[in-house]
Amino acid sequence: MAYETDHIDSDLVTDWINDWDWLDPNWGPNAIEIWNSVREECPMASTERYGRAFMPVTMEAVSQVANDTENFSSVWVGLARPDAPRQPAPPITSDPPDHKDHRRLLLPAFNPRRVAAMEQELREYCRGLIAQLEGLEFADAAEQYTQHIPVHGICQLTGIPEEDADLFRDWIYRNFQLGPKDNAVRTQVYTEMTAYIDALLQDRLDNPTDDMLTGIANAEIDGKEVEWQLKVGYVRLLIVAGIDTTWSALGSGLWHFAQNNDEVARLVAVPDDDLLWQTASEEVLRYYAPVTMARKVVAATEVAGCPVYPGDQMLATLPAANHDPAAFDSPEVFDITRTKNRHLAFGLGIHRCVGSNLARMELLVGIQEWLRAFPNYSLDPNNETTWAPGQIRGPRGIPVKLNR
Ligand code: HEM
Repeated sequence: MAYETDHIDSDLVTDWINDWDWLDPNWGPNAIEIWNSVREECPMASTERYGRAFMPVTMEAVSQVANDTENFSSVWVGLARPDAPRQPAPPITSDPPDHKDHRRLLLPAFNPRRVAAMEQELREYCRGLIAQLEGLEFADAAEQYTQHIPVHGICQLTGIPEEDADLFRDWIYRNFQLGPKDNAVRTQVYTEMTAYIDALLQDRLDNPTDDMLTGIANAEIDGKEVEWQLKVGYVRLLIVAGIDTTWSALGSGLWHFAQNNDEVARLVAVPDDDLLWQTASEEVLRYYAPVTMARKVVAATEVAGCPVYPGDQMLATLPAANHDPAAFDSPEVFDITRTKNRHLAFGLGIHRCVGSNLARMELLVGIQEWLRAFPNYSLDPNNETTWAPGQIRGPRGIPVKLNR
């Protein structure tokens, strides 16, 4: 089925209020300005590029969407055309009542004690990446540093093989950058991921270990074995949610600090356990929150005074809410000392991020090790940062001058 949007797919956006597109090349570097300019005009923008889809930009409207699971379903968490292929990845694609049981299965692996036990090893891993930059004047902070850290973390935690990292990043790229507009790409990614995860889970059934993958391969809810395709979905979610997200937040942080060496100087002057590191890291999450989730409207309702109908899509534009002046004092200021910071980077309501302890630890350790190694680094004036737009926004190439 062809959508009336086909003719404008390749067009650059000129009207962010009535024709937004999060895959527009301007979205990546400029999303914050775009949300702010939309908010000055109205609380919610719309588009027909993916079928009818809305983008609320205020804390009030975003919170309403994220909290209301009766009118907004998570069966469509990735904005794409209505006929896009979709496969379950519980708990993120589940609604009540099923959601709770799936979430409960994954939660224990991410508890603070387990995550804390991983910290020292991850620190050593970061130092190893930094050691590989020995003697270099220039580097790419994304390609040579940030992209590796979350892969290492999630593989340590779950037992997923780290040597397949390039495969995961390729799936993530195709799924999020190409898939929303190309059903064939999305189907192909699903096919490849399913075959890969099938084999992993089958291996753990045959050769059980004490890792999380073995737990998922044998998962039961109320004494009943979980369906195979849902087990595959858990692992698909862990790969996608565990990598791209933290990679984006950490990359945004390093991109920011490259341009703010005065803040770096204040940070490296205090010990790793000083509160300043935590407030700075939370400010990275607020200011550069990478994740925007979609919902499918399943019952007619209203958001910010605008009627929405079943089949419409709705973004929970969490990063935009983090810049709403009605919710934050001077949201346009990146303040490493901000203590009142109830940001929505990890979402809210029943789907709030399961991996937030791990993500926070990876972000803090990744920033600390880099800033301590290169306190005077700056953006490379001759090479541009490249940004991934869309659902998980963040820098994918950050050329820097290390200035040792
Ligand atoms: C800075 C890094 C991260 C950010 C900003 C982030 C953000 C989010 C957000 C906004 C949601 C809510 C989704 C929704 O409402 O539909 C979510 C859910 C989730 N995240 Fe994260 N995430 C991060 C890292 C991680 C990591 C490292 C993992 C580990 C695998 C992870 C696993 C999950 C899972 C399993 C869910 C689904 C929870 C549910 O549906 O109940 N995330 N994340």
